[in-house]
Amino acid sequence: VAIWAVVPAAGAGQRFGAGRPKQYLSLRPGLCILEATLQPLLADPRLHGIAVPLAPDDEYWDGLALSRDRRLHACEGGAERADSVLRGLAHLRSLGAADEDWVLVHDAVRPWLTAGALSRLLDATLESGDAGILALPVVDTVKRVDEAGRIVETVPREQIWLAQTPQMARLGRLEQALSQQLAQGHWPTDEAAALEAAGETVRVVLGERGNIKITHSEDLKGRD
Ligand code: C5P
Repeated sequence: VAIWAVVPAAGAGQRFGAGRPKQYLSLRPGLCILEATLQPLLADPRLHGIAVPLAPDDEYWDGLALSRDRRLHACEGGAERADSVLRGLAHLRSLGAADEDWVLVHDAVRPWLTAGALSRLLDATLESGDAGILALPVVDTVKRVDEAGRIVETVPREQIWLAQTPQMARLGRLEQALSQQLAQGHWPTDEAAALEAAGETVRVVLGERGNIKITHSEDLKGRD
């Protein structure tokens, strides 16, 4: 079985308020967020190929030196994240990916994934045979709050983890789980949510505090 990846990069980055989609903002001269995100995946020889779903009107991908890498396969994304991932999976199938192959889905805007965290996820998932995601146990006390901002209760945090990416599953199972969610009018915000709804076992693997999703412009301040 081969291991593939999908890096959905078709988002417009509405919450960010920059001139271009946030995945194309510069992290440092000569390196944009998307390139930095792809680097640790390309550096792992276990990954056979990586689909990169892009917005239909993307103007930036072809300008990246990295876009010529033979293991990267751009394709068209969709209106929602789950659409983009499904299109990426379909593209991997056109390249020969099979149901039993593994696929990692990694946000285009998580540029600080380390080789160590990636290896932990690959090793744990290949060993257990279950789907797996990088995640972190919460360190803060967790409150459930009503619409008026009043605390309703304190949620025991021992069982609360925050999901990161990559998220790794068998390609056929993930495709089925995501398609089912879309058919029911649901838009899962990560792959695990779709797998959980389909009754799949998904395990958490310890992620890293630095593996953040760049969402607001503050996320870039004080980082390289
Ligand atoms: O919008 P958000 O920050 O949650 O996006 C997470 C990831 O999903 C980003 O990598 C973004 O480019 C991707 N995405 C996508 N297609 C969409 C919406 C988001 O590939 N239609």
